[in-house]
Amino acid sequence: MDFEHVLVAGAGQMGAGIAQVVAASGRRVSLYDAAPGATERGLAAMRKSLEKLAEKGGGDPEEVLGRVAAVDDLVPADLLIEAVIEDAAVKEELFRRADQLLPDGAVLASNTSSIPITSLAAVTGRPERVIGMHFFNPVPVLKLVEVIRAVQTSDETAAAITALAEELGKVPAQANDFPGFVSNRILMPFINEAAYALMEGVAEREAIDTIAKLGFAHPMGPLALADLIGLDTCVAIMEVLHDGLGNPKYAPCPLLRQYVQAGRLGRKSGRGFYSYS
Ligand code: CAA
Repeated sequence: MDFEHVLVAGAGQMGAGIAQVVAASGRRVSLYDAAPGATERGLAAMRKSLEKLAEKGGGDPEEVLGRVAAVDDLVPADLLIEAVIEDAAVKEELFRRADQLLPDGAVLASNTSSIPITSLAAVTGRPERVIGMHFFNPVPVLKLVEVIRAVQTSDETAAAITALAEELGKVPAQANDFPGFVSNRILMPFINEAAYALMEGVAEREAIDTIAKLGFAHPMGPLALADLIGLDTCVAIMEVLHDGLGNPKYAPCPLLRQYVQAGRLGRKSGRGFYSYS
């Protein structure tokens, strides 16, 4: 399978990062987002990131950006990588529309952090060509792509997406389609437990993060990481684990929920566990 032209749906921090690494690999990218102004913001974030990389000997930002076109609706392409909000109904609708529009041989991939790939595959007429391609934030920096096979995904599709991840300079790791896959099955309970530790007064937020940073050599502590990911996304993923695995240990921490209710979503809203100017 040749993925010469890639349609990226969703121009938020993940979609913009994905569009950037795909364009940097020499491919043509169409970037779509339904929200007004979102593709412009995505392109601005890409420019900033590419300029950082250029200072360290990376390629010419203009050349990479020249391969990215903002589009105001889905367009035919060899591959869709979907990175819209973590809402199953929104993703299913997008997969239905893409299935109608993209050529029969095209692959439909989702960057979802936890929504079942099997159910996205089931709304299309090409379930064997539907797969999870899960990148990590910040996409231009982090090397992992978790490749998630739906029950219906063909070996050919899994091999092609694994090869593409390598061509993007990433390291693919395969997981099966269970709630949270591998990454969020491990990461989210860790973040949730850190929120419980804060809520129960076990330690101050800085101490919790310092313990993880220096004690486990993590690049950032779990509360700072939750702010980077978005607290609303963390709650949504915990709900998927809770519903999908049926174990009360996955219930989202009340403090996380409360912050989301207050609009404290993390870096993107200017305040989460920490404040950002
Ligand atoms: N584009 C290009 N370069 C970037 C960048 C970006 N968007 N963001 C950071 N960098 C570069 C910086 O320029 C810097 O480069 P130098 O070392 O050459 O100066 C380097 O990355 C490190 O950045 P900083 O100095 O700003 O800060 P840092 O050392 O604290 O690193 C970090 C920042 C890369 C975010 C690091 O803290 C980190 O890796 N944190 C963990 C992130 C993580 O766990 N992400 C996964 C989240 S889970 C997810 O995404 C999926 C999900 O399903 C929820």
